Amino acid sequence: MAKVTIIGAGQAGATTAHWLAERGIADLVLVDIREGVARGKALDLMQAMPVIGSDAELVGTGDYEETVGSDIVVITAGAARKPGMQREDLLTINSLIVETTVQESLQHSPDAVLIILTNPLDAMSLVALRASGLPRERVLGQAGILDSARMRCFVAMELGVSVENVHCYVLGGHGDSMVPLVRHSNVAGVPLVDILPTDRLEAIVERTRKAGGEIISLLGTGSAYYAPGAALAQMVEAVLLDRHRIVPASVYLQGEYGLSGICFGVPVQLGRGGMERILELDLNPEEQQALQASAAYVRETIEALPD
Ligand code: 2OP
Repeated sequence: MAKVTIIGAGQAGATTAHWLAERGIADLVLVDIREGVARGKALDLMQAMPVIGSDAELVGTGDYEETVGSDIVVITAGAARKPGMQREDLLTINSLIVETTVQESLQHSPDAVLIILTNPLDAMSLVALRASGLPRERVLGQAGILDSARMRCFVAMELGVSVENVHCYVLGGHGDSMVPLVRHSNVAGVPLVDILPTDRLEAIVERTRKAGGEIISLLGTGSAYYAPGAALAQMVEAVLLDRHRIVPASVYLQGEYGLSGICFGVPVQLGRGGMERILELDLNPEEQQALQASAAYVRETIEALPD
């Protein structure tokens, strides 16, 4: 069985483990500095497997030795946003956590593909890339599946159609400047712009951009984890099963979309080696401008990273 390590056994890490364990495609190691939490959650999940009918084995630990030989390492560790905080407020503390956990992980699993969830996502993906010294193909940030799923969910709610018929594409940075591409999004092939009136479409775009914050305010403590975990599980599956699946994800750009030197949400094809290619969509000037604005915001965050 393949082996996936999840760093951070908080809500996001444990929920990712939950979605993945149900799929039964890998044995899972949950790592947390709060060893008891990691062990407790892994044991609890393990005891759910007979009910679910999955033979996935789960281990919780505070010791990286247990992660040896992982095919994928998912980094969820970090402080979460509190109400009123921007994702960027987490910059200093989380960059240190990401750097350390990436280096520790790679010492035990030098061939792993890394998938990052820690916020601020695009900046943390770059921190992981730098700390790992890996080629860009093996360092992926999860944001675009989540942001696109939120938009899909809102469109499906608005129209009363199955979520499976709704295809939405949200690119750019994982922040309020993200770029929901309404022209490329569609319901069973019919462009959204031909189905929804402009004001409804704008409301959905706005709600999508603020969706993470909406959940933080409702929860009062902590941030979203069910949808982020489901999105991570989909990325892990795409890599492990060599699906060649195309999803939006944050990757290091080297000229694509006219951008370089940042990790940024673009459509990528995922397979066993990580990112197989970046797809460049045909964007009109307005969409290009929105993407540039989002990139400028990500760049500002990166420039604020501690040395
Ligand atoms: C979210 O969008 C907190 O970034 C996380 O829910």
